[in-house]
Amino acid sequence: MKTQVAIIGAGPSGLLLGQLLHKAGIDNIIIERQPPDYVLGRIRAGVLEQGMVDLLREAGVSQRMDSEGLPHDGFELAFAGRRERIDLKQLTGGKTVMIYGQTEVTRDLMHARQASGARTFYNVKDAQLHDLKGHKPSVTFSHDGETVRLECEHIAGCDGFHGISRQSIPDGVLQEFERVYPFGWLGVLADTPPVNEELIYANHERGFALCSMRSATRTRYYVQVAAEEKVEDWPDQRFWDELKSRLPADTAARLITGPSIEKSIAPLRSFVVEPMQYGHLFLVGDAAHIVPPTGAKGLNLAASDVNTLYRILHKVYHEGRSDLLERYSELCLKRIWKAERFSWWMTSMLHKFPGTDAFSQRMQQTELDYFVGSEAGRKTIAENYVGLPYEVVE
Ligand code: APR
Ligand code: PHB
Repeated sequence: MKTQVAIIGAGPSGLLLGQLLHKAGIDNIIIERQPPDYVLGRIRAGVLEQGMVDLLREAGVSQRMDSEGLPHDGFELAFAGRRERIDLKQLTGGKTVMIYGQTEVTRDLMHARQASGARTFYNVKDAQLHDLKGHKPSVTFSHDGETVRLECEHIAGCDGFHGISRQSIPDGVLQEFERVYPFGWLGVLADTPPVNEELIYANHERGFALCSMRSATRTRYYVQVAAEEKVEDWPDQRFWDELKSRLPADTAARLITGPSIEKSIAPLRSFVVEPMQYGHLFLVGDAAHIVPPTGAKGLNLAASDVNTLYRILHKVYHEGRSDLLERYSELCLKRIWKAERFSWWMTSMLHKFPGTDAFSQRMQQTELDYFVGSEAGRKTIAENYVGLPYEVVE
């Protein structure tokens, strides 16, 4: 079997890249380890930057997002009994974010791919990448008990943090940068109306809390928990009580609770590999980097990698610009490191760090007080939250 671009992984990165390439007449095949329902069952983030919204429109998969997504002009920071609004629109000259769940983005992309007739193999096993530096790159995998050999020109490693693409690069090539935080987020999804029209990020002496949503009738709430906590120890009532204790009193009083429809604990990690390419293989999204969820950057960074790789491949196939291929990693990493910085900073500013001394606590409170009290500070938060501009490929 032959294709121009072999895509490993049918998460948002792989599906979006596949859709853009297909629209541009560049042949691609996606292989995915899991069945489609499993991919759709993962509950992830829900804040889309303007750049990602525009890219989904360009890919022709924005119809439902444009009718059902919730554009948000701002969000709130709650700390020391105060509620401070970051007016994204006003502080960035008109930019906003879109509340639309990753699950829905994935569903829309899956439908578009099915309608396009482009090939996707789900439930594949034992995917292996071959001849990454040579003249005949290929991917082998088993599907329905048969071994398939897929010859290709380029391989997009869109297979997430635990995928095989990054692991296929020989030892000694990649440099890894990592920070593991000593806590996680316990998240609950519930069919209840949001407590507030906009998201609330709360710094509290009991720990961080976040009020988010998926729609006018579905909410997503989080509380910071110790890294070793178990979901089984968090019945719904304990979760709601803990969340309320960390919110400003007027907000807690308005919070409507209900049975959880999903509950999980996610660890917090910052991770980057350099470079993001090796021969014909290009790492995209979570395969190359992880951010803690505090700045809502994970999915958005995946989209900006896709944008860069798509623009490069477009120029390679339509303008013969093969020279651009070697610039992929350098172009992506500039923006990735800035989003890593913002996510790390938001995490540092809003969470309770075990074992910190009184001086560090005062510094954290003062940092929040300073940033929200200064026009420059609020602008810095806003321009990062709506997303820094995409790198230009030329
Ligand atoms: N072979 C085939 N597919 C694989 C393999 C493999 N060996 N290993 C992993 N995969 C698949 C996973 O099953 C998954 O569906 O690759 C996909 C990777 O998807 P994600 O983990 O969602 O990663 P990505 O598409 O880069 O999405 C961006 O950023 O911060 C996050 O929440 C955000 O999940 C989102 C991610
Ligand atoms: C979410 O809605 O799941 C969400 C929102 C904002 C974040 C992280 C997660 O920063």
